[in-house]
Amino acid sequence: MNKNVTVIVGTKWGDEGKGKIASREAKDAKLVIRATGGNNAGHTIVFNGIKLPLHLVPGGIVYPNTTCIIGPGVVLDLEVLLSEIELLKETGISDIDSRLKISGRAHVILPYHKELDVLYENFKKHPVGTTKRGIGPSYADKNNRTGIRMYDLLLTEDELKEKIEEAIKPHNQLFIDNNMKEAVADANSLAKQYHIYGEKLAKYITDISPLISDSIDNNEKIVVEGAQAFRLDLDHGDYPMVTSSNPVVSGTLCGAALPPQALNTVIGVDKAYNSRVGNGPFPTELPASIDENGNVIENVTPLEGDIVRDLGHEYGTTTKRPRRCGWMDCPILRSAKYTSGIDYLCLNHLDTLGQIGLKLGYVKVCTSYKYKGQVINYYPDDINLSHEIPEPIYETLDGGWTIDSSCKTYDELPELAKRFIEIVEKASGIPVKYLGTGPANDDLIVRE
Ligand code: IMP
Repeated sequence: MNKNVTVIVGTKWGDEGKGKIASREAKDAKLVIRATGGNNAGHTIVFNGIKLPLHLVPGGIVYPNTTCIIGPGVVLDLEVLLSEIELLKETGISDIDSRLKISGRAHVILPYHKELDVLYENFKKHPVGTTKRGIGPSYADKNNRTGIRMYDLLLTEDELKEKIEEAIKPHNQLFIDNNMKEAVADANSLAKQYHIYGEKLAKYITDISPLISDSIDNNEKIVVEGAQAFRLDLDHGDYPMVTSSNPVVSGTLCGAALPPQALNTVIGVDKAYNSRVGNGPFPTELPASIDENGNVIENVTPLEGDIVRDLGHEYGTTTKRPRRCGWMDCPILRSAKYTSGIDYLCLNHLDTLGQIGLKLGYVKVCTSYKYKGQVINYYPDDINLSHEIPEPIYETLDGGWTIDSSCKTYDELPELAKRFIEIVEKASGIPVKYLGTGPANDDLIVRE
């Protein structure tokens, strides 16, 4: 079998800046596929100088020769999808109708999933801090075999109603029991509304398997644009503080309907410092002035985490929440290497880390942990939220650096930045091939 699939995955908790390297890889691709998650993810792409915030359609859509696929592993909020398609058309991106394909097997997020997302979070003693987009409840219905698929939108209105009726039974009872009468779903009106969505989206809904097999047979490049990240993976992440899909490479292959034998390259993406949005363990987290609801406390002396957040503009693309920030964590990278088979690392925000170093007077890198009385170089599997979190062991570099826009090669980087990269490579065991040195798409150094 030809091996021409490149997968791009996040190595920490998302928001590593996967969009930039995904865009570079998509340039010469035939197929660009989104495989997991839904509009809990988001990245901004630039077309003719116009910024386009995308949550569902793969960023590769800006290249006229790519076909973009939303794979069977994705869950879709149809209002968000339709408004993205509208935006792309208004911006003048060509041939959307022929270049966008949506797997009929992808599942639909219905309004009751969003209500359930909020309700389930309220039930929990330790809420996950979900994006409240209905992602988890939609996957839960999929697992319960009561999910509504894109194919179902093409049925008659009556057939769709029957499926919705079955799906909403337990949910409606739960809404009634919790005095949420306004959330009780009505199968008639939902069937009417979603049947209309089906008519609007029919031209995109398809069986994607012939597209994929033809591309593999013709040895055309296929790129999987990963969403979320390793530590948010349902099976391999910080359960239960995770998302409801499998963003590690094996999960993305499944969600994209790709055979593992076609895999060529895996690029893991990270930031030179780390961030997390939502709850859950974060060993290298820095103290920050954020209250228990996740809001920034204003007018207090900024702590280290506030300085990193402000210099990195770390506020969620999807929810605008301030992100928790911390130092680079290499044991997680090392575990990501083996869980996802990462060949190369793309390290973004190398410029921002330099600025953080200049402001604080130092930069730290976590190279191993102290955990249960031992020094370990991987992320332990048995962390319980109420017990011991691994304690980072740091290497510290004095000062910081500035990377000016003329710097285009690894050799031109400041010595301290190169030292930082060497430490990351040694501790993670992954060669750093790509370095993000600024916000623009071409602020990217490629090490040959
Ligand atoms: P959910 O995916 O909305 O259920 O949220 C579960 C957890 O994953 C929460 O902590 C979210 O903040 C986090 N999460 C989900 N998608 C992303 C993403 O694309 N970037 C960063 N965090 C995410």
